[in-house]
Amino acid sequence: MKHFKKASALLLAAAMACLPLTGCSSGESVRIIRIGHNQSTNHPTHIALTAFQDYINEQLGDKYRVEVFPSELLGSQTDMVQLTQTGAIDFCVASNAILETFSKNYEIFNLPYLFASTEAYHHVMDDESITGPIFNSTQKAGFTAVTWLDAGTRNFYTVDKPINSPADLRGLKIRVQQSPTNVEMMRLLGGSATPMGFGDVYTALQSKIIDGAENNEMALTDNGHGDVCKYYSYDMHQMVPDILIGNLAFMESLSEEERAIFEEGFDLINSVQREEWEKAVAAAKERAETEQHVQFNYPDLEPFKEACMPLHTSVLEGNPALQSTYDAIQAYNAQYPQTE
Ligand code: GCU
Repeated sequence: MKHFKKASALLLAAAMACLPLTGCSSGESVRIIRIGHNQSTNHPTHIALTAFQDYINEQLGDKYRVEVFPSELLGSQTDMVQLTQTGAIDFCVASNAILETFSKNYEIFNLPYLFASTEAYHHVMDDESITGPIFNSTQKAGFTAVTWLDAGTRNFYTVDKPINSPADLRGLKIRVQQSPTNVEMMRLLGGSATPMGFGDVYTALQSKIIDGAENNEMALTDNGHGDVCKYYSYDMHQMVPDILIGNLAFMESLSEEERAIFEEGFDLINSVQREEWEKAVAAAKERAETEQHVQFNYPDLEPFKEACMPLHTSVLEGNPALQSTYDAIQAYNAQYPQTE
């Protein structure tokens, strides 16, 4: 199944490389805009991108036609970022985690326990004076970020036993995203990091190549991980946003008027996705509990936080330019502290 999926993604990508970027509608040449992502068609991200597709097709349909490719149809997130870099596709959704290998500035949002609350997280991500320099930092690599998407809070979930403290992670192989910061986080917590792409996690859990993973609640239901993992522990270690990135040359080819319409479209993606996200997470938790019989645990967060804090220092020492961003985030944390 996995090989079939990979082979079909490669075939599709190869076919797309040969396809013209334009299609024909009533004699006019229409530029096709391809957006790839790795979630299912039920996911808030897909719903939001579909709203963008409708909006652009309605506003600029004589010139552009947006097509959305879900479910890793165009490859893994890393594959899709590379396709976006070269312009083989125009946009894709990538987790902030994997973007740190394209620009070190993205490390900041991968830090565990960076945000004091969801409110602080949302305010930071909405503040363009904070995100702007980071979002533009991949221009040399051929792409730029155009908006962010909520991906909730990441927590550990396991097949055989609940994680109530970092000590419970000892000796366990836990899948993390392909990001050096995440690998270091797992080392500090005492577990063994197994980096791999999202699409490979279900099979790895099922075949016991790994003992667990970490993600938001949607991964339990939408990706079936809750069929295998029966313990989900709210250690709340990260709020890692997803980022919609666009090919730079394509973005620069837009006229001022078109650009303004695209910007409205990006805002639409952000607002639809956030609204859908809240509903989707609540529904996922309910389904995981009642249908998949996943047990939700609420461990003491302090030992997890304490183990992870050295990562803040080492990331800031490794990239001192991030200090002012870090301080600005702390100001939001003071304004929106944890409430529960
Ligand atoms: C979340 C996130 C994805 C990411 C995935 C992962 O689902 O929204 O962008 O790919 O986690 O853990 O890889």
